[in-house]
Amino acid sequence: MENITISIKIVKKLDSELTAEEALLVNSAKEATYKSYAPYSHFSVGASLLFDDGTMMQGSNQENSSYPCGICAERSALFAAGAQCPEKKVVAICIAARDTSGEFTSRPVAPCGACRQVMSETEDRQKSPMKVYLYGKEGTYIVRNVKDLLPVSFDASFL
Ligand code: THU
Repeated sequence: MENITISIKIVKKLDSELTAEEALLVNSAKEATYKSYAPYSHFSVGASLLFDDGTMMQGSNQENSSYPCGICAERSALFAAGAQCPEKKVVAICIAARDTSGEFTSRPVAPCGACRQVMSETEDRQKSPMKVYLYGKEGTYIVRNVKDLLPVSFDASFL
């Protein structure tokens, strides 16, 4: 028998501790929540991507009366990037969310499993890590890459 332990490092920063570039990314993700279409859950999620050329792209959750047709903020941003600028590398993604009260969540918002899977394939595709910023009013979690958030993951090497 073998015990395998996997641990990840999370850096938690208060707003005042973010670098200027990090603050821009976080604010972009927060701003993106206002473009969300969430008439069913009333949970507005925003995602912002930082590319290797310094530009950014936003995404937000887009719901539908046929619930499974909707898409999360992270995937809306990453698929838009894949469709519009596949040559750019995503060096970081930030996620923020406002709950049913309209306030930003206190806890750093966590990406769902499906989004982690798509985020993971972005890293594989571009062959470089994507930093993950999870915003909450009590602080922002910073994870150095997506694989840390999805250990023992399925990927194309199994196919
Ligand atoms: N949602 C996201 O946009 N990202 C996540 O990682 C978790 C959930 C959205 C989907 C749905 O529109 C709403 O939040 C409630 O689940």
